[in-house]
Amino acid sequence: MSKILETFEAMHAGSRVLAQRAGQVFPSGVTHDARAFAPWPIYVERARGGRKWDVDGNEYVDYIGGHGALLLGHNRPEVMDAVRTALERGTHFGSSHDLEIEWGERVLQMVPCGERVRFTSSGTEATMMALRLARAYSGRERVVKLEEHFHGWHDLVVGRLRAEDPHPYSPGVPSGFYDALTIVPAGDVAALREALAPRDVAAVILEPTGAHWGTHPLTREYVEAVRRLTAETGTLFVMDEVITGFRMAPGGCQERWGVTADLSTHAKILAGGLPGGCVTGRAEVISMLDLRESDVEWNAQRRVSHQGTYNANPAAAAAGATALRLIAEGDECATADATTASLVRALNALFMELSVPGSAWCVSSMWHVNLGYEAPHPSDVEWDAPEEPRGVAPALLRTLRWSLFNHGVDLMGNGGMVSSAHGDAEVGDTVAAFRAAIGDLRAEGLLT
Ligand SMILES: Cc1ncc(COP(=O)(O)O)c(C=O)c1O
Repeated sequence: MSKILETFEAMHAGSRVLAQRAGQVFPSGVTHDARAFAPWPIYVERARGGRKWDVDGNEYVDYIGGHGALLLGHNRPEVMDAVRTALERGTHFGSSHDLEIEWGERVLQMVPCGERVRFTSSGTEATMMALRLARAYSGRERVVKLEEHFHGWHDLVVGRLRAEDPHPYSPGVPSGFYDALTIVPAGDVAALREALAPRDVAAVILEPTGAHWGTHPLTREYVEAVRRLTAETGTLFVMDEVITGFRMAPGGCQERWGVTADLSTHAKILAGGLPGGCVTGRAEVISMLDLRESDVEWNAQRRVSHQGTYNANPAAAAAGATALRLIAEGDECATADATTASLVRALNALFMELSVPGSAWCVSSMWHVNLGYEAPHPSDVEWDAPEEPRGVAPALLRTLRWSLFNHGVDLMGNGGMVSSAHGDAEVGDTVAAFRAAIGDLRAEGLLT
């Protein structure tokens, strides 16, 4: 057996016990596909700042950051206090309340396209609502999505990952459901122009920095072209900022790249680490949700209905409003970006020093590594080579992750999300863990 795996197993005996129990309860023992991990996932007991601790007492620099929700790190005191205060008042009123207004006002002040907002309970619900609103508003059915781009797990967006793929990504959706879905290659302006030419597309939806939080990067120029082409063809541009919102800048990618969408979808950082999402954007589109007092025909046939028990739940509203205030008034995004840039530079220096075939790069506070092939290094920290980065091959990635767990780092995919609570200590520990992991992988002949 691999020495790396042997060490992982020895260090995670308590997690193994919990994984065995979980295996009797949940499919694959987990509650989110991305948490499945062989031989078993780690079970976390507590977290603080940029770190977390598992049930076996192991400490990690955490790069999952609540699947990207924790730009402020774990347990930011102001957010925790706001949640405690909200909980004292009650967990659910089944009524309107002041905190939801404060939260909504923050969204409108911060997000460039935000004229009105409606809260949902997750990012999946937000993208589902945005596409439904776009169809209702435009009277068109077709939706265009980019290859590999992820927008949650509702029926429409789990359509084919690639245009030529005959199978939906997820079975269980009625056949014919995808007839009104067109998938175009990411970054291909001509293909998008052709897809929009018949003027029958309700909306184009995309992850602005590229599929899977930028694993397959997109350029700002492409996103600008999407803005132009959608405007020319009367198509709504839905920017899915579930990841990038309140991270790339207080106003997300729209602020940082100066591209304003018609609608944008948000979750994760929006709700300060609690469950929540929203759709915001042009008032006339969001107003498809308006109830009109004496317009029976509108209410029954034309408006988009929306319910949801946990929309703008008081605890989530308190966490979200506080997180957004801190982001709007502080340097949280810039701090996380600067830490990420220093991590990427340090990793590239390490790879050079050790002659490792690979490179690191980032966009804003999201970083990635390529490993196991002669990948170009970025000229600074953002990916700027003509070819697509290839990341880490799945077999190598698994062993890399075992080794990094053994040395105190929890990656997300082939990299991670950095918070404003990460700093020099976390960067130093991460580089040391990579140095040790590279030694481990070389000892087992997995890396040249
Ligand atoms: C870009 C993007 N959109 C939508 C979603 C779905 O959000 P949620 O997990 O809150 O349903 C995700 C989740 O990771 C995402 O990354």
